[in-house]
Amino acid sequence: MAPSTISLAPSTATASATESTKLKTTPTPTPTQAVNTLTAPLPYPPAFSPLLSHPHHESTPVIGTEFSGDFQLSSILSSPTSLQHLASLISHRGVVFFRGQEITPSQQRELVQSLGELSGKPATSGLHIHPLTRENGKDGDHISIISSEERIKYENARKERERVRELGWEKGEESQLASVGWHADITFENVPSDYATLKVHTQPATGGDTLWASGYEVYDRLSPSFRAYLETLSAVHNADRFKEVAAARGHTLRNHRGAPENNDLELTAVHPVIRTNPVTGWKSVFVNRSFTKRILGVSIDESELILNHLFRLVSENHDLQVRFRWARYKDGETGDVAVWDNRSTFHTATDDYIETGGVRSGDRAVSLGERPFYGGQGERSRGRREALGWRGVERIY
Ligand code: SIN
Repeated sequence: MAPSTISLAPSTATASATESTKLKTTPTPTPTQAVNTLTAPLPYPPAFSPLLSHPHHESTPVIGTEFSGDFQLSSILSSPTSLQHLASLISHRGVVFFRGQEITPSQQRELVQSLGELSGKPATSGLHIHPLTRENGKDGDHISIISSEERIKYENARKERERVRELGWEKGEESQLASVGWHADITFENVPSDYATLKVHTQPATGGDTLWASGYEVYDRLSPSFRAYLETLSAVHNADRFKEVAAARGHTLRNHRGAPENNDLELTAVHPVIRTNPVTGWKSVFVNRSFTKRILGVSIDESELILNHLFRLVSENHDLQVRFRWARYKDGETGDVAVWDNRSTFHTATDDYIETGGVRSGDRAVSLGERPFYGGQGERSRGRREALGWRGVERIY
């Protein structure tokens, strides 16, 4: 079927709220189907894993596991068994943290690529090249430098754009809600990310934490009839704003971004609102405040209503979030590392250190997975609470 387009009326539900953009509303026909090759979820926890013999604890009941002590990720890079156990752990827990890592950017690339390969990612999916990555950069195409200085420039440009052209507000009247930053990486791609890793090697004296939230738990907080309805819907994800950033920086967008399905400059994709993670078989909400622009097949008002509700479940439930405080190391190379599953989590950085003049930087590598799907795997797809035998909590406040 040929892609069709729809003109979007101004919306208040999304980050770039007032754009009026022609967005495609059907997935682009592509050279491959980009399907995950697992025929059943990976076991969890693995019966015996050398990985789990290292000291670790669950950061919260719902999301996050942290390894402490002297375990180095680089020591398992040549062990497919340990890497597959790690992939299973990350997908089940959402995000896993490792303290004091000496891993290099090239090993970070190897790590996320191996995690994907050992958990069934399509042979055509490689590492992502961000559309804003400059050609011939010193760290190569597959590392995104996370830098507070770039972030300040980008945020200032974004605020200026919204102030002058979109919303017409004056300086000092911008949104004070940090929750606008919640996202999953690169969901504007036809084939988005499975795993991603970030090492923060330069950290301010205080601040700069990162938060993750569980998409599985967001799904589980919906009533059964609303879940069943959302399972029938698809949403449009778009990153047109990167076109303006590239223009402002004076370079072009990258158009070969790690998979044959990610080769156009539309930066728009259509994905199911509820997504099954093939590694766990668990269902997750798969819309995010940064990139999801609208739900198809309903009015723009209904789309805003549904999206705002889902975004609020992510940002207003601190009991499905984990907040990670990066440690500060003095050599500029050692750093804490987070590895997460972008199919079933959301995350957001915290810019609280910027006013103090603090500097923060790190290296991020993002692997591409399968084309998002709902169901499959012989209908074994189910919610995380159901799979774990959790009953659900009656909230008494
Ligand atoms: C990201 O959004 O991937 C980076 C998060 C961070 O800088 O903490």
